[in-house]
Amino acid sequence: MTRAKQSIHGSWSSRLAFVLAATGSAVGLGNIWKFPYIAGEHGGGAFVLVYLACIAVIGIPIMMAEVMLGRRGRQSPINSMRTLAAEAGASRYWSWLGWAGVLAGFLILSYYSVIAGWALAYAFRAVGGTFTGATADGVASIFERLTGDPERLMGWHTLFMVMTMIVVARGVRGGLERAVKFLVPSLFVLLLLLDGYAMASGAFDQGLAFLFRADFAKIDANGVLIAMGHAFFTLSLGMGAIMVYGSYLPARASIAKSTITIALLDTLVALLAGMAIFPIVFVNGMEPGAGPGLIFQTLPIAFGHMPGGQVFGTLFFVLLVFAAWTSSISLIEPAVAWLVENRAMSRVRASVITGLTTWLFGLLTVFSFNIWSEFRPLSFVSVFRNATVFDLLDYLTANIMLPLGGFAIAVFSVWVMKRPDSVQELALGDGWAYRLWRVLVRYVTPVAVVIIFLNVTGLVDFSGFLGLSE
Ligand code: TRP
Repeated sequence: MTRAKQSIHGSWSSRLAFVLAATGSAVGLGNIWKFPYIAGEHGGGAFVLVYLACIAVIGIPIMMAEVMLGRRGRQSPINSMRTLAAEAGASRYWSWLGWAGVLAGFLILSYYSVIAGWALAYAFRAVGGTFTGATADGVASIFERLTGDPERLMGWHTLFMVMTMIVVARGVRGGLERAVKFLVPSLFVLLLLLDGYAMASGAFDQGLAFLFRADFAKIDANGVLIAMGHAFFTLSLGMGAIMVYGSYLPARASIAKSTITIALLDTLVALLAGMAIFPIVFVNGMEPGAGPGLIFQTLPIAFGHMPGGQVFGTLFFVLLVFAAWTSSISLIEPAVAWLVENRAMSRVRASVITGLTTWLFGLLTVFSFNIWSEFRPLSFVSVFRNATVFDLLDYLTANIMLPLGGFAIAVFSVWVMKRPDSVQELALGDGWAYRLWRVLVRYVTPVAVVIIFLNVTGLVDFSGFLGLSE
């Protein structure tokens, strides 16, 4: 069967453009907002170690698989999976993997946009000098005033969704590629600056110890699942975002090299963010387990006290918005690409439709922080005792849907797709590198996902074996 040489949606101008776009997708709120707060909630060091291990043994190999499937399929994930399944003589129901991804992307974006709205609001507060001289109590009340007000949250959420839809409507080169070129380098510089401040804060050692000294008594089975879920989340894996970006990748670019670069940059950003935040937490006597508000209640203190903090604070939150922006477009791109392919819609129309639906669903998250903040829908399940609707959405997508998607991608790439096809597409030759990838994706990844799932459900208890506390 003949396959298209290029996607109908266009393609990246070069491998570098793909690396930038995929890095733009990977680096986002996950690194700067989510990683520090979940590491804080799960005791630091041991959690970080499990997360790093998951990036190396699960994340990188799955990312290679996802890019490979996208580039070979050259369409939206739904249609790519159908084409590739036909090519391998397998069931057309593999396209359901694409559907599950569209659903996951939609659910994630619905809350992602609300949190990105917080960053937008903070950029405005920073310009206005609100943080100057701020104390821990002061920034806590700024945060509570914002999240306690559904109308304000809705306003910022709306603005962010509109921004996302505009870029998506403009398409692969005009929109997606242009947005990421300055972002990643500038974000890096700002994070280094914050790390400099943290180093001088007096609690840098304590912060580092929290982040890197692994004490396995502090992490339980659920913590391990959350660390694995975050490895998928932070690398944008398991729902087709990286697959759709791979479908715009020029035919000859190296998949392995690109993937490793992206994963390293992403990890570095997360660690730099953690190293900036925890010293500030400790020096101000705050709680590392403060939850989703963590960075919004720590970083403003740093900006409020450093020379030039008003400028740097503004820059930082603006960059955070950009980082979220280049991620959010990848969450919705699989759905938009499918609408364009199968419903013959223009990109503009497809963007408006998906954007409106996502916006509406985002209201669930908006209300989770105020009028529904006491609503605990699954309080009868012990791990969800304190979970709000937002917490549940996050848990369902990051810790369940993405690992399941990754599991299916792994199974398809090595058990269904013909070996010569993956050898050809990855273009690593048939040497040790290809074989290592194959062993990881064939055995290690699926087995790891299954063990971690079973351990959390309590059906099987590997905790003693893993040295965990529960
Ligand atoms: N990786 C992004 C972050 O860390 C979020 C994201 C973008 C994502 N695209 C995704 C997560 C696809 C899961 C799947 O902020």
